[in-house]
Amino acid sequence: MKIRETATIISQECLCDGIYSMYLATNAAEYAAPGQFISVYPPGGARLLPRPISICETDGANRLRIVYRAAGGGTKEFSKLKSGDKLDILGPLGNGYFDALSQHIELETRALLIGGGIGIPPMVELAKQLECEVSIVAGYKSDAEMFLTKELERFGSLYISTDDGSAGTRGTVIDAIKENGIDTDVIFACGPRPMLKGVKDYAATAGIPAYVSMEERMACGVGACLACVCKSEGIDEHSQVDNKRVCADGPVFAASEVVL
Ligand code: FES
Repeated sequence: MKIRETATIISQECLCDGIYSMYLATNAAEYAAPGQFISVYPPGGARLLPRPISICETDGANRLRIVYRAAGGGTKEFSKLKSGDKLDILGPLGNGYFDALSQHIELETRALLIGGGIGIPPMVELAKQLECEVSIVAGYKSDAEMFLTKELERFGSLYISTDDGSAGTRGTVIDAIKENGIDTDVIFACGPRPMLKGVKDYAATAGIPAYVSMEERMACGVGACLACVCKSEGIDEHSQVDNKRVCADGPVFAASEVVL
């Protein structure tokens, strides 16, 4: 169930250079699931398209947290907002990790959550809601740009990789999995395209089912404009096309379903 509403900002803080955490009072929190996102409308009119931002945490009632990178005009506007300010949002949107699952997560299942950069925030709510053994690999550029580590440590065994080796394993998230000998029955991932490709290849070689959340540029956010399509591995029986709308068919897909 998606809602267009004017949310109220409860608080906002900068976590590290360019990364902001914002808590919103919104009814969308009641329906939000891990892996879903909200469209956030830049304040001050229709000059800019709404920005899709993944949901980091929800209390299941009326408090929702987003963690985002202030990179362009719209998100830089968000970063200036303060407690009590209003923000128009639409959501929750997309399918989320549990909707995309083709298997049952039993208590004895081992789940590996992999987040890279601004793909890390949705792993917090996912780790919180999984009731099985959870390992998490978070990939950052360097130790100066690490965020959400305390939250992730609360809900699973956390492993770090950094590009420059300043914390954890030097290299990629896959290097961290191998270095730490992490075994798993299922993988959930969110991050930049090269990381998702690495996860897809690793999972295919190891014979582990993997689910990836895609980041694409979006416009409408609700499946109407086709601005966000990605290539799928096969032709969809229903639509007869080899692409999928990230906003409406995803953003979470079985890794084997999409071309990376
Ligand atoms: Fe319009 Fe996905 S953003 S169809």
